Amino acid sequence: MNQHEFAADGAHEALVDSARIVHGDVEVSWKHAAPPSQFSPFWLRDHCRAKHSLNPDTLQREVDTFGIPPQIAPAKIEIKDGGRTLAIAWAHDASVSTYPAEFLWDIARHEGRPPAPRRRLWDRDSMGKDFPSVSHAEVMGSDDGLLHWLSLVEEFGFALVRGADASMAGTEALVKRVGYVRETIFGGMWEFSANQAFKDTAYTSVAIGPHTDGTYSNDSPGLQMFQCLAFDGSGGDSTLVDGFKVAETLRNSDARAFEVLTEVKVPAHYLGDGVHLRGEHPVIGLDHRGDVTQIAYNNYDRAPFRLPPARMTEFYRALALFNRLINDPAYEISMRLLPGTVLLFDNWRTLHGRHAFKGHRHMCGAYLNMEDFQSKLRVLRMGQSNRSKT
Ligand SMILES: [Fe+2]
Repeated sequence: MNQHEFAADGAHEALVDSARIVHGDVEVSWKHAAPPSQFSPFWLRDHCRAKHSLNPDTLQREVDTFGIPPQIAPAKIEIKDGGRTLAIAWAHDASVSTYPAEFLWDIARHEGRPPAPRRRLWDRDSMGKDFPSVSHAEVMGSDDGLLHWLSLVEEFGFALVRGADASMAGTEALVKRVGYVRETIFGGMWEFSANQAFKDTAYTSVAIGPHTDGTYSNDSPGLQMFQCLAFDGSGGDSTLVDGFKVAETLRNSDARAFEVLTEVKVPAHYLGDGVHLRGEHPVIGLDHRGDVTQIAYNNYDRAPFRLPPARMTEFYRALALFNRLINDPAYEISMRLLPGTVLLFDNWRTLHGRHAFKGHRHMCGAYLNMEDFQSKLRVLRMGQSNRSKT
């Protein structure tokens, strides 16, 4: 738990109560929170929020970081606007830096890194039959509707749109609400039937086990959107598994196996169609907090590699445990995608697969970049909070 968590939150505006020099650092005390926060003078000068040091429109730094004297020290510290602003006059050149209290408070809480997204991990039972979904009219009709859809994807790793146009153009219009279509070896917007157009199992009618796409790319596609445009046959249900749920299950049941899967970078490749791609990812990616941020697993596309014998044995043991969990029906949900229903899922979290089918099945879809999805969420949330302030 963050030491500041018990204190000021959205219910209180962050306000500076007092500020003083303690052991060379600026110690800021808060009106609605404790304990105080420390900032080094060098960091403060580098992060000055005044116009002369930061472009207010682009937030690009205009300070000459490397011209700041290493022993920089404040000459005077002032609290202004009832605690909303901290102003520091510097001893070496009498210039004044200013900082909104909210900016410093946010740094004190999160060190400048975004807080972990709100996620709800699921398995078959906890997900039930009521899958997260929104209406096409809602998504296309308002930014709040779009935000609702994308927030569901962030929270659950997938969400459906119902009532969409059962066409490539209708699917593309939804992609463009989120970001832009990612070009890959399969093109931009792609469509496929059960044929052999590409050297990939997706283009056949056999069952496909749970996997993530693009393990052979160093930037695996962040999201994937699917729509079934036509289906005449039996079987072919789409399957989803919450990879983060499986990873947490493994962390709790076999910490050693979990660790191995976070450490070993597994190479993957794609050969054919005039390309030879190669990428490397751990099966379970972690961030600086130790939170799971990315699953990269596709046993079909794993490239040959070898570790020292004992490590190799450990890796195979861990991989087998992971593979058993993702293929356990207790973690899998399945759905028959019919024309008009669009699935958007987080390819860094949610593994997807497909039951075998007979007949004709015509799918279309696209990949999106993770950074574009996250950018859209930030912009929509900023717009929503600005609207609620006015
Ligand atoms: Fe796939």
